[in-house]
Amino acid sequence: MMQELDLSTIKLLLVDDEAHCTKLMEAFLKQAGYSRITMTNDPRQAVPLYGEVKPDLVALDMRMPHMDGFEVMRQLRQVIPADDYVPILIVTGELDAPTKHQALAQGANDFLNKPVDATEVVLRIKNQLQTRRLHQQVRMHNEHLEAQVRLRTKVVEQTQLDLLNRLVLASEYRYDVTGAHAWRVGRLAMLLAEMKGLAPDQVELIKKTAPLHDVGRIGVRDAILLKEGPYEPAEREAMKAHTKIGSKILSDSRSPLLMMAREIALTHHERWDGKGYHRLKEAQTPLSGRIVALADAFDVMTHACSYKAPLSLSDARGEIERHAGTQFDPDLSSQFLKLIDRDGESLLADATAQQLFA
Ligand SMILES: [Fe+2]
Repeated sequence: MMQELDLSTIKLLLVDDEAHCTKLMEAFLKQAGYSRITMTNDPRQAVPLYGEVKPDLVALDMRMPHMDGFEVMRQLRQVIPADDYVPILIVTGELDAPTKHQALAQGANDFLNKPVDATEVVLRIKNQLQTRRLHQQVRMHNEHLEAQVRLRTKVVEQTQLDLLNRLVLASEYRYDVTGAHAWRVGRLAMLLAEMKGLAPDQVELIKKTAPLHDVGRIGVRDAILLKEGPYEPAEREAMKAHTKIGSKILSDSRSPLLMMAREIALTHHERWDGKGYHRLKEAQTPLSGRIVALADAFDVMTHACSYKAPLSLSDARGEIERHAGTQFDPDLSSQFLKLIDRDGESLLADATAQQLFA
């Protein structure tokens, strides 16, 4: 059931070069209950007045000096937003069919014949205003739906990040329940990706997935994973398998996050000279893997573990310089040196999941 229009809120714009015509229309419309009526007898004022008043409907004469109704309508359609339905009612004497067709093609919504009849004016205007209101309701409904979709998408994304976060904690748990190394690698990889000039969405993906680089360690036996000191060859092979295990855990997903996480898990132990785990050389290793290889190595160097003391920042800087072009991507290495010179000791500070996933 159509609700009654609230006429006190409705704004009308009347454009006709003859003052008695606008006056007559105004009288009919006031009698019908409309009060917010703007009129002009100069068609050149129609567009500026539209901008000022933002009417719900425009009633427009066709034959006018200076600017005919077609021109006014053309200009009005340029300023009326595409998603807003503002009816234009043509008020004119007898129109031949081609002129009528042209008016409709240019965006006229209805016609009123002169001399205007009070009942017809009021009914045709009411019809057009009801159409406008339906249009507004549909638009509001769509906006509401879009907002809901955005909200749901946000919730899904948050859930995804939350799960990644838990997976990082699970993967690091046997070393360090806080996952501190993983979060620091995430932050370092993000900074390096930024220095390299990657697009913001790629930087985000790397930041969020780099902490998962060692997720495959879940599948490495404690006797090997927690062994201190040098590995036997067979143990080394079992340790290397964490890249493939990680890749397996993260495979077969179409989520960009998981696809990136998988790429990093598989390739973060490659070397620029091709002597890494899977013998990928130079740019055969995806950029994400080369970035995390550097971030991971730097963080391991600069933090103590049970069998070694940490290197100082300047010693770690020297290590990167020395291994640029053999172990590490030479361009990324020089970016990383710049990063060390720019950010200094703050690169060693702890990061948290909240900082990375905010
Ligand atoms: Fe690793």
